[in-house]
Amino acid sequence: MNTIRAVLGLSFLPTALAFTPGFPYGSEKVRGVNFGGWLVPEPWITPSLFDNTGNSAIVDEWTFGQLQSHSTALAALTTHWNTWTTESNFTAIAAAGLNHVRLPIGYWAFEVGPAGEPYIQGQLPYLTKAITWATNHNLKLIIDLHGAPDSQNGFDNSGHRISTPGWASNNTNVQCTDAIIKTTANMVKDNTANVPRIAPLNELSSRGVILPSLKTLILYGRLSDELSWKFMDFFALPALQKLDITEHLFQEAPSIG
Ligand SMILES: *[C@@H]1O[C@H](CO)[C@@H](O)[C@H](O)[C@H]1NC(C)=O
Ligand SMILES: *[C@@H]1O[C@H](CO)[C@@H](O)[C@H](O)[C@H]1NC(C)=O
Repeated sequence: MNTIRAVLGLSFLPTALAFTPGFPYGSEKVRGVNFGGWLVPEPWITPSLFDNTGNSAIVDEWTFGQLQSHSTALAALTTHWNTWTTESNFTAIAAAGLNHVRLPIGYWAFEVGPAGEPYIQGQLPYLTKAITWATNHNLKLIIDLHGAPDSQNGFDNSGHRISTPGWASNNTNVQCTDAIIKTTANMVKDNTANVPRIAPLNELSSRGVILPSLKTLILYGRLSDELSWKFMDFFALPALQKLDITEHLFQEAPSIG
């Protein structure tokens, strides 16, 4: 552990610390809320969306797309995206004195892979809206990749409830995830004052044990190519080695649930 940490400490942290973060992490408290259930609906957070399908086999976003017609699923999701979170929520969050909002989003918002996943797309414009709303109300947005290809944990919160999540054992999935994180970083690289952090993967789980989340990639100023390649190296490590280190790498930064 110490060796791994030392390697990362040398290769990752000094580069990052050379930048000025978009929020004074370490000196000011992170106070925030999470918009779980908006761009990644989960039955326990948004039960009506699932109940309204009348189909008890629809238990996650995968089955939401798979077991209904595309037009029915898209219509329900579009209504949900348009109504469940609006700028008024950001107004209220800022008025309450909070400074951060965490926004979960699935990989399928960016691309649906070759495996023919039944996910419905259309979330990205809402991510853009959320960035604008955060900016309007001086809130810091944390973009949180909540679902990765072939599921990183098998839970409905990854988009696909399955007993054998395959993300970590298939390098195609890992590379796709890395590319999406880079896409996300590029989207926000000129707005790190308002999007200072990306949380690269939620609730990674292996062998039935939930491992510490890949908590956060702090965007200090511009995300340099160098930093993003370091991050890719990190992802390219053999699956189970890389999981342990995250606890140490990321616990340094304050985080919100
Ligand atoms: C957004 O605000 C509305 C109006 O106050 C509220 O009903 C809704 O629950 C809020 N959305 C979330 C995701 O908290
Ligand atoms: C890895 O995932 C890709 C994309 O879903 C798939 O085409 C490929 O067959 C998988 N490889 C293995 C070894 O499972």
